[in-house]
Amino acid sequence: MNNSYDKFSEYYDIYTSFVDYELWSKYIYALADKDLTNKNILDLGCGSGEMLLSIDEMTNANLYGVDISEEMLSIADQNAFFKNKKLNLIKCDMSKFICDIKFDLIYSACDSMNYLLNEEEFIDTLNNAYEILNENSIFTFDIINKDHIETNDDFSYENIYFVIKRKKEENYLYTDIKIYEDKKEAENISHKQRLYSIDEIKKMYNKTKFDDILFYDFLTAKGIEKTSDKIQIILKKY
Ligand SMILES: C[S@@+](CC[C@H](N)C(=O)[O-])C[C@H]1O[C@@H](n2cnc3c(N)ncnc32)[C@H](O)[C@@H]1O
Repeated sequence: MNNSYDKFSEYYDIYTSFVDYELWSKYIYALADKDLTNKNILDLGCGSGEMLLSIDEMTNANLYGVDISEEMLSIADQNAFFKNKKLNLIKCDMSKFICDIKFDLIYSACDSMNYLLNEEEFIDTLNNAYEILNENSIFTFDIINKDHIETNDDFSYENIYFVIKRKKEENYLYTDIKIYEDKKEAENISHKQRLYSIDEIKKMYNKTKFDDILFYDFLTAKGIEKTSDKIQIILKKY
């Protein structure tokens, strides 16, 4: 269980205020390589729903979001309400999520898959996604490049200051975020993520029914570079 996001939810949209969800959602849509009008789209680890809401700007699709954190889902619900949009939000561990609906695109964004702390959970997530994916569709997600971890980059937004410390220990990345509001310490968040190598991902993919796998340098359709911060993985079901 990873509930660090319950505590973080209040600050998450400020923390990600520099993220270009519009560009990112266009990238995910382009990877899907099909018309998604009136189709079902699923976001695993949807967080505050910003990616789903950006996708909604591009297509009239039925949008579903799964997240383990009730508080993040509650922010997603508010964000949808303020934009007069409808999101179908489900509280569930993505490695256990299965349903009767079939999707034409499943994605997971912002290294949410790295919160799956062991291979069993990771493979379960891939297998479940396969089962609920329509034919000729993809499951795509980004992961942290194990060999190129971002440096600590503190930043502030209005009266809120984030102090970020990252520490890599073997296969894990520990991120501590201290949040100050009006210079007073307001929250202390600790995230733990599992770092997966390309070889490990390939081995896990071989245990699924997916028909093909591609690895792209994040936000491109080119191969991985040593310096890529993130790696985009595309799993295809024919
Ligand atoms: C870095 S945030 C990304 C949120 C969103 N995808 C975005 O792009 O802003 C990671 C999200 O994954 C969720 N999460 C972590 N482990 C999960 C799991 N096992 N099942 C479902 N959601 C999970 C967290 O609650 C959090 O909302």
